[in-house]
Amino acid sequence: MAKNNEVRKIGVLTGGGDCPGLNAVIRGVTKPAQDHGMTVFGILDGFEGFVEGKTSELRDEDVSGILSRGGTILGSSNKGDPFHWPVEKNGKIEIVDKSQNVLRNYKALDLDAVIAIGGDGTMHICNKLMEMGINMVGVPKTIDNDLDATDVTFGHDSAVYVVSMALDRLHTTASSHHRVIVVEVMGRYAGWIALHGGLSGGADVILIPEIPFSWESVYDKIHKRELKGKRFSLVCVAEGAKPIGGQLVTQGTDVKRTDPIQLGGIGKVVADNIEKNTGRETRVTVLGHLQRGGSPTPYDRILATKFGAFAISLAARKKFGKMVALKGNEIVDVDIADAISKQKLVQPNNQGVLAARAVGISFGDE
Ligand code: F6P
Repeated sequence: MAKNNEVRKIGVLTGGGDCPGLNAVIRGVTKPAQDHGMTVFGILDGFEGFVEGKTSELRDEDVSGILSRGGTILGSSNKGDPFHWPVEKNGKIEIVDKSQNVLRNYKALDLDAVIAIGGDGTMHICNKLMEMGINMVGVPKTIDNDLDATDVTFGHDSAVYVVSMALDRLHTTASSHHRVIVVEVMGRYAGWIALHGGLSGGADVILIPEIPFSWESVYDKIHKRELKGKRFSLVCVAEGAKPIGGQLVTQGTDVKRTDPIQLGGIGKVVADNIEKNTGRETRVTVLGHLQRGGSPTPYDRILATKFGAFAISLAARKKFGKMVALKGNEIVDVDIADAISKQKLVQPNNQGVLAARAVGISFGDE
C-alpha cells in the first residue's frame, strides 16, 4: 500500500478465455485513473504474467481506440492459475503452487490493488489471493453468462449476436435444400448462449444442458414440422447438452487448464442421429471461437465501460474483495466470495424458456 495509505498504483489483468469487451473494460479502468490520481499497470497474459512478473504501464494513449477492438491488448491465458501451475518434469505434467510468486511480484511492483477481469475461474483465484493479503477487485466477463452474482456478463451479447446471425444465414440454405441444420454453440455447462441465440435466430429446437433431451422428441418435432409443410429445421445445441441418461461429449482433457475438460462434438452426434432416424438430409455447423472473437456489440461496449469505470472507483474507495455486477439497471458491487458460490444456470421456468415454448420451439423434452 502506498505510504500515505492511498491507492496509487493499480494492476489490471484479463484472465481465462477472451471475449468481446475486454478492451472496453481496460479502457474504462485506465482512462479515469488519472482523475483518481492513479497509475495503471497492465499485467500481461492473465495470472501467468502475475506469476512471472510481466507488466507494462498503461497510459491514456495505450487505451485510445481500443473500445471496439475484440480480444485483449493485455493477452490472456486459461492455464495460468497460480494455485494450479503446470510444470513439465521428466515428460510429465506436475501441478505446483506458485501463489507466493504472485505475492512477491505484487510487493515488488508496489501495487496497491489489482483489477482482475475474468470468469468463474478468475474470481476463484481472486478470492484466494485476497486471503493472502492482495487487494483484488473483480470484473465479470464470459460469453457463457454463467456467473450468478450479475444479471449479465459482458461478452454474452456479442456471442449471442454471432449465433443469431449464423442462424439467419443457415435458415435460408436449410430452407432451399430442405435440410436439417444443427448449430453447435459454446456455453460450457450453461445453456444461455443456445437459449438466447436460438430465440433470436428462430431455431426450431434448442438443446441445453439444463434440460436433458429425448431423441424421440427431437425427431418428432422435425416430423411435425414436415407435416405442416416445413421441410427444413434448425437445431441449436449447446456444447454441454446431453440426452436423458447420456454423457457429455468432449474433445479431451488438458490438466494444464483451469477446467481440464474441453467440451465439443455434440452437434455432430445430434446431426448424425437426426439424419439416420428421420431420413432428412442433415448438416452441422460448429460456431466455436467465432463466438469469442471480433468486435463487441454496442450493449457489451456500454456494459464493459460501466464495469471498468465502476471497478476503478471501487479501488479508489478501497472496496476490495468486491466484484462489480449488473443488477437490474444498476452497476453494484458484490463480495467476490458470494459471487463464486453459485453458478447461474437456465431454470425451467426462465421467461426465455417459457417464451420459446410459447412460440413452438422444442427443448426436446415433450
Ligand atoms: O468459457 C468460455 C468458453 O468459450 C466456453 O464457452 C468454451 O467451452 C471454452 O471457453 C472453450 O475454451 P478454449 O478456448 O480453451 O477451447
